Amino acid sequence: MAMDHHPEHPDVTVEMWTRIDEIIEENKMQPGALITVLRLCQDTVGYLPPTLLDYIAQGMNLASSQVFGVATFYSLFSLEPKGRNIIKACTGTACYVKGIKEVMNHIENKYGIKEGETTEDRRFTLEGVRCLGACGLAPVMIVGEDIHGNLDPKEVTTILEDYA
Ligand code: FES
Repeated sequence: MAMDHHPEHPDVTVEMWTRIDEIIEENKMQPGALITVLRLCQDTVGYLPPTLLDYIAQGMNLASSQVFGVATFYSLFSLEPKGRNIIKACTGTACYVKGIKEVMNHIENKYGIKEGETTEDRRFTLEGVRCLGACGLAPVMIVGEDIHGNLDPKEVTTILEDYA
């Protein structure tokens, strides 16, 4: 079957579009379906590009504005691509006092991103998060699955070099 009804997007492969069609088909009659569909589509593609949001709106017979509204309201959803490695820098009180800002400045300067941004090569996304519950290790960041504590701002970029 021709798949020419799918819009073009560099990050969405033919297989992904097929999966997206299934997701919409399976869920569109369920209550609260939109959030489920957005979540599953984000799992499939990695994020929710605007082209995809328009496509979901069409498929579910909803206004684009409604779909964009929900996708931008919940922090769970990302309309921008994320990096392969997500850096979650703790901006809770203990980490703040122990200098997480300086740590973040080093990351920002080295990789040319600000909080909430992703490097152009999609290697890193830098996020500020609330207390990670490891205040004894302040200042703390999580990279992917790894927790790094007692961070020395000068060494933080050395730690990050291990993440490709
Ligand atoms: S304030 Fe950073 S872990 Fe608690």
